[in-house]
Amino acid sequence: MKGTLYVVGVGPGDPELMTLKAVRILERCKVWLAPVAKKDGESTALGIAEGVVDRGDKEIITHHFPMKKIRMGQIPDPEVKKAWDAAAVQIIGHLQAGRDVAFPTLGDPAIYSTGFYVCETLFALAPDLPVEIIPGVSAIGASAAAAGQPLCLGDDRLVVIPATFENGRLRETLEQFDSVVLMKVHRVMDRLVPLLGEMNLLDKAVLVERTSQNGQRIRRDLTTALQPNNAPHYFSTIIVRKS
Ligand SMILES: C[S@@+](CC[C@H](N)C(=O)[O-])C[C@H]1O[C@@H](n2cnc3c(N)ncnc32)[C@H](O)[C@@H]1O
Repeated sequence: MKGTLYVVGVGPGDPELMTLKAVRILERCKVWLAPVAKKDGESTALGIAEGVVDRGDKEIITHHFPMKKIRMGQIPDPEVKKAWDAAAVQIIGHLQAGRDVAFPTLGDPAIYSTGFYVCETLFALAPDLPVEIIPGVSAIGASAAAAGQPLCLGDDRLVVIPATFENGRLRETLEQFDSVVLMKVHRVMDRLVPLLGEMNLLDKAVLVERTSQNGQRIRRDLTTALQPNNAPHYFSTIIVRKS
């Protein structure tokens, strides 16, 4: 019998935010393939999973996925595609040998997650192999919870976007929606903060760093992110809610 690939959302950091199902699947799978963003770096998702599940009897494969912009409908960077292909090939080898594989991924797999690119690659190479997606607590909900505010209520329109959009598109989105979640903000604060200032939205914005992780920080004055040595961590999300 063939094994199953489980793409497991492990939540934003605090292992207590992992679902019972995520824990059960991770316990059951003897092979884990965990994503690493930097060559020779650590896997955040793996660290979260290990906070609950003993890795003692696991075969742990860490796999480097380069962090490069991916535009839907366009051919991905060859280095990125190579990483997806190599991960899928390794996973296929285990599944065909009858071993289940877990792919722990930060937050929820449905939101800007490498897990789905790996799934799509696997479907293309071996469409008959079974895959299950285990949802997780996303940084989006966890950031709102940490900030003690809702994302949307009543007839609010909510949108989630990468803050790496160019300013024109950011402005348009901020104008159109009542509540805007900006992810991947850490490298663009120098243009995002002035834009929010021009649009009189600075007092509607909250920056949540490292939600539910050690070092969690909530900033309501986003201009502090422009100070030297005060740039936000990669794990940072901004919520702009107008009402
Ligand atoms: C590649 S996306 C992954 C999102 C993830 N799949 C999720 O559902 O939360 C990475 C972005 O998620 C956000 N993020 C992830 N973990 C976070 C955390 N603990 N606190 C705040 N933002 C976080 C940041 O905006 C970061 O740039």
